[in-house]
Amino acid sequence: MSRRLIIAVSGTPGTGKSLFAAELARKIGAELVDLNTLIKESGIYEVDENGVRVVDPEDLRREFSRVSKGIRGDLVVEGLLAHLLPTDEVTHVVVLRTAIEELERRLLARGYPERKLRENLEAEALGIILCEAVQEHGEDKVHEIDTTSLDPPEAVELFLSALRGEVSLRPGKIDWLEEYCDKYFRSETPRGGKKFNP
Ligand SMILES: Nc1ncnc2c1ncn2[C@@H]1O[C@H](COP(=O)(O)OP(=O)(O)OP(=O)(O)O)[C@@H](O)[C@H]1O
Ligand SMILES: [Mg+2]
Repeated sequence: MSRRLIIAVSGTPGTGKSLFAAELARKIGAELVDLNTLIKESGIYEVDENGVRVVDPEDLRREFSRVSKGIRGDLVVEGLLAHLLPTDEVTHVVVLRTAIEELERRLLARGYPERKLRENLEAEALGIILCEAVQEHGEDKVHEIDTTSLDPPEAVELFLSALRGEVSLRPGKIDWLEEYCDKYFRSETPRGGKKFNP
């Protein structure tokens, strides 16, 4: 009997994790676990000095393993920290990516304040979640999908083709740094002489 699927869906806020994961779970008949709900309901979080809710990744891994043991079939787990779940349990990691302008539109539509908006766009431009995912699980397990112009069912179809080995979603092909720098820095770069180290 082949091993059951445990597919972790992660990505910067607004890249479409919740919509993608719900569609994927429906399509393959898997149970869906939302990590935000799991963290809140199990009470494993703390509130830091800025009033922000934080969770220790070790506690999250332990709690997920407990819940996952109680589910027999395939499982899709989604959330901002899904790429940090135990690599011996997770069979696939999907990191969703979205180009900066489109991500900005989606986050503005949700009313994100300027600072939070900029922090998230910067995190996406630097590919932080992708780096963490590859660090944690290695390149073979991680699949990177650009949802800028794919709707959730199309993105799910693409992932299913990768599962069948028809396409490669190997990480490292997506890069928004130039777009991000053009948007925020190019016009601010001073002209004229530059310091250099002789
Ligand atoms: N593939 C997509 N194409 C166009 N719009 C999308 C796509 N995926 C998500 N969106 C839009 O982006 C917004 C965020 O989607 P969603 O809630 O699924 O993101 P998320 O990654 O789960 O965010 P969070 O981390 O805050 O939970 C929604 O308004 C949704 O309509
Ligand atoms: Mg979500």
